[in-house]
Amino acid sequence: MSLFPSLNPPLQDWRGKRVWIVGASTGIGHATAAALHGLGAQVIVSARKAQALDDFVQHHPGSVALVLDATDSVAVQAAALQLLAQGPLDVVMYCAGHYQAMRADALNLPELRRHIEVNYLGGLNLLQAVLPALLARGTGHLSLVGSVAGYRGLPQSLAYGPTKAALINLAETLYLDLRPKGLGVSLINPGFVATPLTAGNAFAMPALLTPEQAARAIVQGWADGEFEIHFPKRFTLWMKALRWLPDRLFFYLLGRATP
Ligand SMILES: NC(=O)c1ccc[n+]([C@@H]2O[C@H](COP(=O)([O-])OP(=O)(O)OC[C@H]3O[C@@H](n4cnc5c(N)ncnc54)[C@H](OP(=O)(O)O)[C@@H]3O)[C@@H](O)[C@H]2O)c1
Repeated sequence: MSLFPSLNPPLQDWRGKRVWIVGASTGIGHATAAALHGLGAQVIVSARKAQALDDFVQHHPGSVALVLDATDSVAVQAAALQLLAQGPLDVVMYCAGHYQAMRADALNLPELRRHIEVNYLGGLNLLQAVLPALLARGTGHLSLVGSVAGYRGLPQSLAYGPTKAALINLAETLYLDLRPKGLGVSLINPGFVATPLTAGNAFAMPALLTPEQAARAIVQGWADGEFEIHFPKRFTLWMKALRWLPDRLFFYLLGRATP
Protein backbone atom coordinates (compact mmCIF):
# COMPACT_ATOMS: atom_id res chain seq x y z
CA MET A 1 0.00 0.00 0.00
CA SER A 2 1.50 3.33 -1.06
CA LEU A 3 1.14 6.68 0.72
CA PHE A 4 0.63 8.34 -2.65
CA PRO A 5 -2.27 7.97 -5.06
CA SER A 6 -1.43 5.80 -8.06
CA LEU A 7 -0.14 7.61 -11.14
CA ASN A 8 -2.63 5.89 -13.44
CA PRO A 9 -6.14 4.57 -13.05
CA PRO A 10 -5.47 0.98 -11.89
CA LEU A 11 -6.28 -1.65 -14.52
CA GLN A 12 -7.72 -4.48 -12.47
CA ASP A 13 -10.85 -5.81 -14.09
CA TRP A 14 -10.00 -7.01 -17.59
CA ARG A 15 -13.33 -8.65 -18.36
CA GLY A 16 -14.69 -7.30 -21.62
CA LYS A 17 -11.75 -4.92 -22.09
CA ARG A 18 -10.40 -4.53 -25.63
CA VAL A 19 -6.60 -4.56 -25.77
CA TRP A 20 -4.40 -4.09 -28.84
CA ILE A 21 -0.83 -5.34 -28.52
CA VAL A 22 1.58 -4.57 -31.37
CA GLY A 23 4.54 -6.93 -31.17
CA ALA A 24 2.59 -9.92 -29.86
CA SER A 25 3.74 -12.82 -32.07
CA THR A 26 6.47 -13.91 -29.62
CA GLY A 27 8.09 -13.06 -26.31
CA ILE A 28 6.79 -10.49 -23.85
CA GLY A 29 3.93 -9.25 -26.04
CA HIS A 30 2.71 -12.79 -26.71
CA ALA A 31 2.84 -13.74 -23.02
CA THR A 32 1.08 -10.52 -22.00
CA ALA A 33 -1.65 -11.14 -24.57
CA ALA A 34 -2.13 -14.65 -23.21
CA ALA A 35 -2.24 -13.40 -19.60
CA LEU A 36 -4.85 -10.74 -20.43
CA HIS A 37 -6.92 -13.24 -22.39
CA GLY A 38 -6.88 -15.45 -19.30
CA LEU A 39 -8.22 -12.51 -17.27
CA GLY A 40 -11.15 -12.02 -19.64
CA ALA A 41 -9.90 -9.37 -22.07
CA GLN A 42 -10.48 -9.44 -25.79
CA VAL A 43 -6.99 -9.24 -27.22
CA ILE A 44 -6.02 -8.06 -30.67
CA VAL A 45 -2.54 -9.32 -31.51
CA SER A 46 -0.40 -7.67 -34.17
CA ALA A 47 3.04 -8.29 -35.65
CA ARG A 48 4.43 -9.39 -39.03
CA LYS A 49 4.38 -13.18 -38.55
CA ALA A 50 0.87 -14.20 -39.59
CA GLN A 51 1.30 -17.85 -38.65
CA ALA A 52 2.30 -17.06 -35.06
CA LEU A 53 -0.68 -14.71 -34.69
CA ASP A 54 -3.06 -17.29 -36.12
CA ASP A 55 -1.71 -19.87 -33.68
CA PHE A 56 -2.38 -17.44 -30.85
CA VAL A 57 -5.99 -16.96 -31.96
CA GLN A 58 -6.45 -20.74 -32.25
CA HIS A 59 -5.39 -21.16 -28.64
CA HIS A 60 -7.14 -18.06 -27.30
CA PRO A 61 -10.75 -18.03 -28.51
CA GLY A 62 -12.25 -14.61 -29.07
CA SER A 63 -8.92 -12.96 -29.78
CA VAL A 64 -8.15 -11.37 -33.13
CA ALA A 65 -5.03 -11.42 -35.32
CA LEU A 66 -4.13 -8.33 -37.29
CA VAL A 67 -0.95 -8.69 -39.31
CA LEU A 68 1.03 -5.51 -39.79
CA ASP A 69 4.48 -4.03 -40.03
CA ALA A 70 4.70 -1.30 -37.40
CA THR A 71 7.16 0.66 -39.54
CA ASP A 72 4.46 1.11 -42.21
CA SER A 73 2.45 4.10 -40.98
CA VAL A 74 -0.26 3.58 -43.60
CA ALA A 75 -0.77 -0.04 -42.56
CA VAL A 76 -0.88 0.90 -38.87
CA GLN A 77 -3.42 3.64 -39.57
CA ALA A 78 -5.58 1.26 -41.61
CA ALA A 79 -5.45 -1.38 -38.88
CA ALA A 80 -6.45 1.17 -36.23
CA LEU A 81 -9.36 2.42 -38.33
CA GLN A 82 -10.55 -1.15 -38.80
CA LEU A 83 -10.39 -1.85 -35.07
CA LEU A 84 -11.93 1.43 -33.99
CA ALA A 85 -14.83 0.95 -36.41
CA GLN A 86 -15.72 -2.13 -34.34
CA GLY A 87 -15.57 -0.38 -30.98
CA PRO A 88 -13.28 1.51 -28.61
CA LEU A 89 -9.87 0.30 -27.47
CA ASP A 90 -9.25 0.25 -23.73
CA VAL A 91 -5.51 -0.47 -23.76
CA VAL A 92 -2.94 -0.11 -26.54
CA MET A 93 0.54 -1.53 -25.98
CA TYR A 94 3.58 -0.98 -28.20
CA CYS A 95 5.81 -3.99 -27.67
CA ALA A 96 7.49 -4.40 -31.08
CA GLY A 97 11.24 -4.41 -30.80
CA HIS A 98 14.46 -5.06 -32.68
CA TYR A 99 17.89 -5.68 -31.17
CA GLN A 100 21.32 -6.28 -32.59
CA ALA A 101 24.42 -5.81 -30.46
CA MET A 102 26.58 -3.05 -31.93
CA ARG A 103 29.70 -1.20 -30.96
CA ALA A 104 31.11 2.02 -32.39
CA ASP A 105 34.02 0.26 -34.10
CA ALA A 106 31.55 -1.71 -36.23
CA LEU A 107 28.99 1.00 -36.85
CA ASN A 108 26.29 -0.13 -39.27
CA LEU A 109 24.05 2.68 -40.47
CA PRO A 110 21.25 0.54 -41.97
CA GLU A 111 21.02 -1.38 -38.69
CA LEU A 112 21.03 1.87 -36.68
CA ARG A 113 18.18 3.14 -38.82
CA ARG A 114 16.31 -0.15 -38.49
CA HIS A 115 16.36 0.14 -34.69
CA ILE A 116 14.92 3.63 -34.87
CA GLU A 117 12.28 2.53 -37.39
CA VAL A 118 11.03 -0.44 -35.37
CA ASN A 119 11.64 0.58 -31.77
CA TYR A 120 10.77 4.27 -31.93
CA LEU A 121 9.07 5.34 -35.15
CA GLY A 122 6.80 2.28 -35.07
CA GLY A 123 5.57 3.50 -31.70
CA LEU A 124 4.90 6.94 -33.14
CA ASN A 125 2.96 5.35 -36.00
CA LEU A 126 0.78 3.60 -33.46
CA LEU A 127 0.30 6.77 -31.42
CA GLN A 128 -0.79 8.74 -34.44
CA ALA A 129 -3.28 6.01 -35.32
CA VAL A 130 -4.96 5.62 -31.93
CA LEU A 131 -4.52 8.88 -30.02
CA PRO A 132 -7.33 10.90 -31.65
CA ALA A 133 -9.88 8.21 -30.76
CA LEU A 134 -8.55 7.79 -27.21
CA LEU A 135 -8.59 11.56 -26.67
CA ALA A 136 -12.09 11.89 -28.10
CA ARG A 137 -13.33 9.23 -25.68
CA GLY A 138 -11.36 10.68 -22.76
CA THR A 139 -10.45 7.27 -21.38
CA GLY A 140 -8.07 4.45 -22.22
CA HIS A 141 -4.47 3.51 -21.56
CA LEU A 142 -1.29 3.63 -23.64
CA SER A 143 1.69 1.51 -22.75
CA LEU A 144 5.16 1.67 -24.32
CA VAL A 145 7.75 -1.04 -23.83
CA GLY A 146 11.14 0.57 -23.29
CA SER A 147 14.07 -1.08 -21.53
CA VAL A 148 16.47 -0.47 -18.68
CA ALA A 149 18.99 -0.24 -21.54
CA GLY A 150 17.59 3.26 -22.10
CA TYR A 151 18.70 4.57 -18.70
CA ARG A 152 22.37 5.14 -19.63
CA GLY A 153 24.83 4.29 -22.38
CA LEU A 154 25.82 0.62 -22.20
CA PRO A 155 28.31 -1.69 -23.94
CA GLN A 156 27.02 -3.24 -27.21
CA SER A 157 24.05 -0.89 -27.11
CA LEU A 158 24.95 1.62 -29.79
CA ALA A 159 21.86 0.88 -31.89
CA TYR A 160 19.36 -0.29 -29.29
CA GLY A 161 20.03 1.92 -26.25
CA PRO A 162 19.29 5.31 -27.85
CA THR A 163 15.92 4.09 -29.15
CA LYS A 164 14.94 2.97 -25.66
CA ALA A 165 16.12 6.25 -24.14
CA ALA A 166 13.88 8.01 -26.66
CA LEU A 167 10.91 5.83 -25.69
CA ILE A 168 11.44 6.59 -22.00
CA ASN A 169 11.46 10.32 -22.69
CA LEU A 170 8.45 9.99 -24.98
CA ALA A 171 6.43 8.09 -22.37
CA GLU A 172 7.17 10.71 -19.71
CA THR A 173 6.09 13.51 -22.03
CA LEU A 174 2.97 11.62 -23.07
CA TYR A 175 2.09 11.14 -19.42
CA LEU A 176 2.34 14.87 -18.79
CA ASP A 177 0.17 15.65 -21.81
CA LEU A 178 -2.38 12.86 -21.62
CA ARG A 179 -3.00 12.14 -17.95
CA PRO A 180 -4.86 15.47 -17.50
CA LYS A 181 -7.03 14.44 -20.47
CA GLY A 182 -8.16 11.28 -18.69
CA LEU A 183 -5.82 8.79 -20.35
CA GLY A 184 -3.42 6.45 -18.59
CA VAL A 185 0.16 6.17 -19.82
CA SER A 186 2.66 3.57 -18.69
CA LEU A 187 6.26 2.74 -19.51
CA ILE A 188 7.43 -0.85 -19.22
CA ASN A 189 11.15 -1.27 -18.62
CA PRO A 190 12.07 -4.94 -18.43
CA GLY A 191 15.41 -6.34 -17.38
CA PHE A 192 16.52 -9.50 -19.21
CA VAL A 193 13.75 -11.77 -20.51
CA ALA A 194 14.38 -15.02 -22.43
CA THR A 195 12.82 -14.29 -25.84
CA PRO A 196 13.95 -14.48 -29.49
CA LEU A 197 15.25 -10.91 -29.04
CA THR A 198 17.84 -11.94 -26.45
CA ALA A 199 18.46 -15.47 -27.72
CA GLY A 200 21.63 -14.36 -29.52
CA ASN A 201 23.24 -12.81 -26.44
CA ALA A 202 26.58 -14.50 -25.91
CA PHE A 203 26.86 -13.42 -22.25
CA ALA A 204 25.12 -14.69 -19.12
CA MET A 205 22.05 -12.53 -18.56
CA PRO A 206 21.59 -11.72 -14.87
CA ALA A 207 18.16 -12.16 -13.26
CA LEU A 208 16.75 -13.60 -16.49
CA LEU A 209 12.94 -13.97 -16.50
CA THR A 210 10.60 -16.06 -18.63
CA PRO A 211 8.13 -14.13 -20.81
CA GLU A 212 5.35 -15.41 -18.52
CA GLN A 213 7.06 -13.91 -15.46
CA ALA A 214 7.47 -10.65 -17.37
CA ALA A 215 3.78 -10.69 -18.28
CA ARG A 216 2.81 -11.21 -14.63
CA ALA A 217 4.94 -8.22 -13.60
CA ILE A 218 3.33 -6.09 -16.30
CA VAL A 219 -0.20 -7.07 -15.31
CA GLN A 220 0.65 -6.36 -11.66
CA GLY A 221 2.12 -2.96 -12.57
CA TRP A 222 -1.01 -2.04 -14.48
CA ALA A 223 -3.18 -3.21 -11.57
CA ASP A 224 -1.14 -1.01 -9.21
CA GLY A 225 -1.55 2.01 -11.50
CA GLU A 226 2.21 2.44 -11.87
CA PHE A 227 3.74 4.74 -14.48
CA GLU A 228 7.05 2.91 -14.82
CA ILE A 229 6.71 -0.85 -14.57
CA HIS A 230 10.24 -2.21 -14.20
CA PHE A 231 11.22 -5.74 -13.32
CA PRO A 232 12.77 -7.77 -11.84
CA LYS A 233 13.55 -5.24 -9.13
CA ARG A 234 16.64 -7.20 -8.00
CA PHE A 235 18.16 -6.20 -11.36
CA THR A 236 16.40 -3.00 -12.37
CA LEU A 237 17.13 -1.18 -9.10
CA TRP A 238 20.87 -1.64 -9.80
CA MET A 239 20.34 -0.32 -13.31
CA LYS A 240 18.52 2.67 -11.88
CA ALA A 241 21.37 3.27 -9.44
CA LEU A 242 23.73 3.64 -12.43
CA ARG A 243 21.87 6.84 -13.31
CA TRP A 244 22.95 8.46 -10.07
CA LEU A 245 26.64 7.61 -10.36
CA PRO A 246 29.03 10.43 -11.25
CA ASP A 247 30.32 9.98 -14.81
CA ARG A 248 33.86 9.22 -13.67
CA LEU A 249 32.70 6.28 -11.56
CA PHE A 250 30.12 5.13 -14.10
CA PHE A 251 32.65 4.92 -16.95
CA TYR A 252 35.25 3.27 -14.71
CA LEU A 253 32.83 0.53 -13.58
CA LEU A 254 31.37 -0.08 -17.03
CA GLY A 255 34.84 -0.11 -18.56
CA ARG A 256 35.93 -2.81 -16.10
CA ALA A 257 32.79 -4.86 -16.75
CA THR A 258 33.18 -4.73 -20.54
CA PRO A 259 35.39 -7.29 -22.29
N1 LIG B 1 13.81 -9.63 -23.90
C1 LIG B 1 14.39 -8.71 -23.14
O1 LIG B 1 15.33 -9.01 -22.36
C2 LIG B 1 13.93 -7.30 -23.19
C3 LIG B 1 14.44 -6.41 -22.25
C4 LIG B 1 14.02 -5.09 -22.27
C5 LIG B 1 13.10 -4.68 -23.21
N2 LIG B 1 12.62 -5.57 -24.14
C6 LIG B 1 11.65 -5.08 -25.11
O2 LIG B 1 10.49 -5.85 -25.04
C7 LIG B 1 9.80 -5.77 -26.30
C8 LIG B 1 9.42 -7.16 -26.74
O3 LIG B 1 10.62 -7.87 -27.01
P1 LIG B 1 10.79 -9.42 -26.71
O4 LIG B 1 11.97 -9.55 -25.85
O5 LIG B 1 9.51 -10.02 -26.32
O6 LIG B 1 11.29 -9.92 -28.13
P2 LIG B 1 10.59 -10.75 -29.31
O7 LIG B 1 10.05 -12.01 -28.78
O8 LIG B 1 11.59 -10.77 -30.39
O9 LIG B 1 9.35 -9.83 -29.69
C9 LIG B 1 9.44 -8.74 -30.53
C10 LIG B 1 8.09 -8.55 -31.15
O10 LIG B 1 8.16 -7.41 -32.00
C11 LIG B 1 7.58 -7.77 -33.24
N3 LIG B 1 8.11 -6.94 -34.30
C12 LIG B 1 9.41 -6.77 -34.65
N4 LIG B 1 9.50 -5.94 -35.71
C13 LIG B 1 8.22 -5.59 -36.01
C14 LIG B 1 7.65 -4.77 -37.01
N5 LIG B 1 8.41 -4.14 -37.91
N6 LIG B 1 6.31 -4.64 -37.04
C15 LIG B 1 5.52 -5.27 -36.13
N7 LIG B 1 6.01 -6.06 -35.17
C16 LIG B 1 7.35 -6.21 -35.12
C17 LIG B 1 7.93 -9.24 -33.41
O11 LIG B 1 7.05 -9.88 -34.30
P3 LIG B 1 7.29 -10.16 -35.86
O12 LIG B 1 8.72 -10.58 -36.02
O13 LIG B 1 6.28 -11.24 -36.12
O14 LIG B 1 6.95 -8.89 -36.55
C18 LIG B 1 7.67 -9.73 -32.00
O15 LIG B 1 6.30 -9.99 -31.84
C19 LIG B 1 10.75 -5.04 -27.25
O16 LIG B 1 10.39 -3.68 -27.31
C20 LIG B 1 12.09 -5.18 -26.54
O17 LIG B 1 12.97 -4.15 -26.92
C21 LIG B 1 13.01 -6.86 -24.14
